[in-house]
Formats: sequence, C-alpha cells, structure tokens
Amino acid sequence: PPLFTLLSTHDFESVAEKTLAPKTWAFYSSAATDLVTHKANQSFFDRIWFRPRVLRNIRTRDTSAKILGQKVELPIMCSPAAMAKLVHPDGEKAIARACQSKGIIQCVSTNASFPIEDIASSLSPSQNNGPSPLFFQLYVSKTRAASEALLRQVWSLGIRTVFLTVDSPLAGKREADERVRMDDDQQGIPMMTGVGKPLNDKRGGGLGRITGSFIDEGLDWSDLPWLRRHWKGKIVLKGIMCAADASRAAQEGLDGIVVSNHGGRNLDTAPPAILILLDLHRNAPHVFDTLEVYVDGGIRRGTDILKAICLGATAVSLGRPFLYSLNYGPEGVEYLIDMLKEELSVAMALVGITALEQAHPGLVNTNDVDYL
Ligand code: FNR
Repeated sequence: PPLFTLLSTHDFESVAEKTLAPKTWAFYSSAATDLVTHKANQSFFDRIWFRPRVLRNIRTRDTSAKILGQKVELPIMCSPAAMAKLVHPDGEKAIARACQSKGIIQCVSTNASFPIEDIASSLSPSQNNGPSPLFFQLYVSKTRAASEALLRQVWSLGIRTVFLTVDSPLAGKREADERVRMDDDQQGIPMMTGVGKPLNDKRGGGLGRITGSFIDEGLDWSDLPWLRRHWKGKIVLKGIMCAADASRAAQEGLDGIVVSNHGGRNLDTAPPAILILLDLHRNAPHVFDTLEVYVDGGIRRGTDILKAICLGATAVSLGRPFLYSLNYGPEGVEYLIDMLKEELSVAMALVGITALEQAHPGLVNTNDVDYL
C-alpha cells in the first residue's frame, strides 16, 4: 500500500510482515522463546492510565527535548539494530539521513551493515556544524584491540556518545530466527565486527546468535575503567533491568542508562520495560538525579512515549518500527518520525501539557501494575 495510507507503527509492521524476505522478517520480528517479554513490552503500556487535566490552553505545543545536553526535536531515538541493509540497500545510511533531517538521534549498532564511517559520511554536511546526530552502540569484542580500534574510529568521526550494551553477553533463543535458514545472500552482514559471512549451523539459521559470537561473554563491571581509557566521551549502559544495577550505574558515574530488555530478544520473562522504569522509581529514585534514563521496548504510540516521560525518562528509543518503516526507504523513516511527533503532540494536548518539562508522575495512574 502507498505510504500515505499508513496511519500507525502497526501499519508499517503488517506491511513488513507481508513484504519482507522471510529471513529478514524472522530476524527482525523474532524474540526469545515464548515471546512473553516481547508482548508484555507493549501490553504493559496499556495498563497505565493517564490522569488528564483539562482547561489548560494547549494551543501551542513543543515536543522538543534534550539528550545529554543536545537539543532534539522529539524525545525519541532510533535504537541500535543490526543489519538494516536486509530491508533496504541503503540500510543505516538511509536511517541516518532521515533522522538527521527530522532532528533526532540515531544510535548505530556495532553490527550495522555499513562501516560507521560510511554512515557518518552519508549525513548532510550543511547540518554538520553542531554535535553529531549519531551515537554509537558498542558490543565489546573478545579481541579487545578490535574494539579499541573501533572506538578510535568512532571518535575521529565526531561521535561523542557510546551506548555499551550490557544485556547481551550472548543472544537469547530466538526460535523464529533459527527456523528460517540463511540463503547465500551476503547483503546484510555486519561490517564492523570481522565476523564475515554468517552461516547456518546445526542449531539452525539464528542470525542473532551466529553474528553475536564475537561478543566477550566475560565482560563485567571491572571493565569500565578499560572503556574509560579508550573512550573519553559519554558512556551510557544499555540493557539495565533492575533498580540495583541502575544504582550501580549511578555510583560508577555513568552518564545514562537505557532501561531495556533488548526488545524481548534475550531473556524471556525479563520484566517489560515500563515495569523496570517503575522499579527504579520505587527502589532507586536517586538515579534520576545523577544520570539520564532512557527506555526502549514496545514503544509504538505517542501515548507510550508520554507515559515514559511522565515516569522520569529523558527520552525513549524504538527499534523494530524504524526497520519496518525503512521498507519504504528514507521517506518511510521520515514519515514514521512525523507520525510519532503528531501522536505525541496530540497526547500532550489531551493530557493538558504544552512542553515535556511539564510531564510528571502525577499525570499517570500506575495502580494496576504497581505491585513492585
Ligand atoms: C536489536 N537490538 C540491538 N541492540 C543492540 O544494542 N545492538 C544491536 O546490534 C541490536 N540489534 C538488534 C537487531 C534487531 C533486528 C532488533 C529488533 C533489535 C535491540 C534494540 O536496540 C532495542 O533494544 C529493541 O529493538 C527495542 O525494542 P522494540 O522497539 O523493537 O520493541
């Protein structure tokens, strides 16, 4: 169907299901084992109710926000996701252009299908005076020197923020991804990891599992000084799932955390993202004063974005919706961002606020999920 007939992130998803190559759909849409966490990421947003305020003159509204001091047009980021080239030949480069033109940040995966310098050089130079619109997501390699070289390269491109993914020492059991075997098409292979062409093995065609085999399973908190030696910019831990680890992150002086269960792709029955955010509120409220908290997993609507902001998130991030919208090329990604902006603006109006600084926990009722 033509782009202009799509009305929601769900519409992009159902077109993707019908039109993507079977392996691409299996890799993008899959999640761990019984998909409990994956489904709960979305459904738990629906169990939080707004407490809307009326008669507030909402005629002019501003959806802009600040992420680590950087102004963005919307409090949403594009989550790092591997191998965008499977859906479109320009892959992450097309996403980068679309995000830049709409004034939002894209976090590029270590497993992107283009080298980071290609993605950076596809940005429009006319807008290159300010801070880079790219963040970089790091998976630490078993070969530390390779990660160190990658970090140097990323720094040389003007990128100043790294998301260290901490929830994936290994990939979860994604059965849909295992079931569909890879063909000989090398199109989407990751370019920064030296993994080379992913192949099927005895367990199946699990693209996530096989391409993740370079990741160092031995990484622990004592490696943070190593990272600091090789990265002088900001560091955000991606994949925090409980208050205790959020506190530890704050104590270690990190700049931010992404509350995330990797889109339900790793540990099934890990808590849905919005419950993790509530856990932080109850059990580690101080972290909101010392670092920025972002949320990803299951965000599909402007109302989801606003609920997360009300509960203390600085911004949210979306994974699959960006990949599905890239099915329509960079125009599809721009369309998705506009759509979410419009939904967020309407949600703000109807809750009774005109700027995101006015969002606060009193605007949501979490009683139905407040059993922490
Ligand atoms: C991911 N995710 C991910 N995260 C990461 O840190 N590095 C990566 O390379 C990838 N790769 C990846 C590939 C695909 C196909 C998906 C769907 C996801 C996780 C991603 O950053 C994010 O946490 C989730 O996608 C968020 O959930 P939603 O928005 O997809 O529900």
